Amino acid sequence: MAEHAHSERFDSQMFIGGQWVDAVSGATFDSINPATGAVIATVPRGDVNDVGRAVAAARDAFDSGRWGQATSERERSRLLFAIAEEVRRERDALAELEVLDCGKLLADARADIDEVAFMFEYYAGWATKLAGDIPPVGPHAMSLIVNEPVGVCGLIVPWNYPMLMAAQKVAPALAAGCTVVLKPAEQTPLTALRLASIVERVGVPAGVFNVVTGFGVEAGEPMLTDPRVDKISFTGSLAVGRHIQRTCADQLKRVTLELGGKSPNIIYADASLAEAISGTCSGVFGNQGEVCSAGSLVLVERSIYENVISQLAEVASEIRLGSGLDPDVTMGPLVSSAQRDRVQGYVASAPSDGARCLYAGDLPSDPRLTEGFFVPPSIWEVDDLAPRIAREEIFGPVMTVTPFESVDDAIRLGNSTEYGLAAAIWTSDIKKALTTARAIRAGVVWVNDSQPAPSESMWGGYKQSGVGRELGPYALDAYLEKKHIYINLS
Ligand code: NAI
Ligand code: MG
Repeated sequence: MAEHAHSERFDSQMFIGGQWVDAVSGATFDSINPATGAVIATVPRGDVNDVGRAVAAARDAFDSGRWGQATSERERSRLLFAIAEEVRRERDALAELEVLDCGKLLADARADIDEVAFMFEYYAGWATKLAGDIPPVGPHAMSLIVNEPVGVCGLIVPWNYPMLMAAQKVAPALAAGCTVVLKPAEQTPLTALRLASIVERVGVPAGVFNVVTGFGVEAGEPMLTDPRVDKISFTGSLAVGRHIQRTCADQLKRVTLELGGKSPNIIYADASLAEAISGTCSGVFGNQGEVCSAGSLVLVERSIYENVISQLAEVASEIRLGSGLDPDVTMGPLVSSAQRDRVQGYVASAPSDGARCLYAGDLPSDPRLTEGFFVPPSIWEVDDLAPRIAREEIFGPVMTVTPFESVDDAIRLGNSTEYGLAAAIWTSDIKKALTTARAIRAGVVWVNDSQPAPSESMWGGYKQSGVGRELGPYALDAYLEKKHIYINLS
């Protein structure tokens, strides 16, 4: 399968107003398989003109009532269920495409695609349940609070969970009655385009769902300033997130931001150690560390510290790098040469920055992978959180470990980051677990686990990790306006 897939091409046009089109300029760019460096597809390089066409289509679909206000909720629900069914039917092909475009493991990609299907089912259910309220306002009047879609949404997504991040925004937006322009990351445009072909096939009206492929400044930025766009939802870097919020302030566009993290992973001495070690490792090294909520800031109670660091190194030494399509491989390549260089830069400067290397893995030995963007996993001991690798989001397989003395100490270190996306706590003491969980300033706290994010739950950051919430019913709020209708009965 791997050999065959490597030589296959996935060239595609983009999807605007129900049509498959090239960029107005005719420009294209290549999408690359990060395991081999091979070009697997050429896609349109969208710019302000293409975004303009897509936004016009989405605006027209919204204003004409082809979706949202004038469409029945049942019809929206039915179409979202139909998308889910098609995603399930294409599951294996979608998962393989995701591996080829972004480098993750096939088993993980399959789990992503399964969650994409469920996400559409989950929000298909919500489409018919967005009831309002009737607050009592006395005998001579009636107040109706109704939910209405916010309008045209620009959805800008990253490359680490390409289709899952797209679904996480597209499904609640469509359920709420919004129309959308999806801008996938330039590193991973392919599954978003497959989603467009599914949306087309099930019969979603033209213009409701559009995909513009291209680079951030060319194909993302124009959505921030186009007055026909009501809302931007973005997942990606802190720097771009700040820029988006600043730019959108001019038109007071609604903004949801899911940004980075430097998430503490706290192991207390009373934890069930085998679970804590394996959960900690998968919480840092899973998806090659390209996870916004990666628990890369590992904090370990002093009395078990020496034991834990030797076990972490042992588990890390079992990691095998290679193509995500190879079933024996447990860590894929990073998404791009730029991301590899960025992560290698952190690793290279770590020793002079006060970090001591506890473990460093090897590159894959397969000669077919020498052009791939691999970075071996590494574990670093840091006495305090001063070194850059203990403060900044790395987005690669790099773990730091620091000992702590007490619950207060763990909380202080865990809260020392500027981010606040997630935290994991390993302990068998319920009081310690809840005391720590409540004291950590983060949007998601796992107890005796790391990374689960069920679609029915909630996701989002405190502090520099973002604005707003996604998943569950919370995501719907981001795509709805509330209106008060007051009726005088006297
Ligand atoms: P990025 O923030 O530049 O890219 C994310 C998305 O934003 C992409 O679709 C990109 O095309 C778009 N974008 C970039 N500039 C834009 C602009 N001016 N206007 C509108 N859209 C724009 O992230 P990048 O450079 O790919 O990765 C750098 C670092 O960002 C990573 O190392 C990681 O630390 C962090 N990151 C965090 C993610 C998360 O899940 N929170 C996901 C991806 C990256
Ligand atoms: Mg790619």
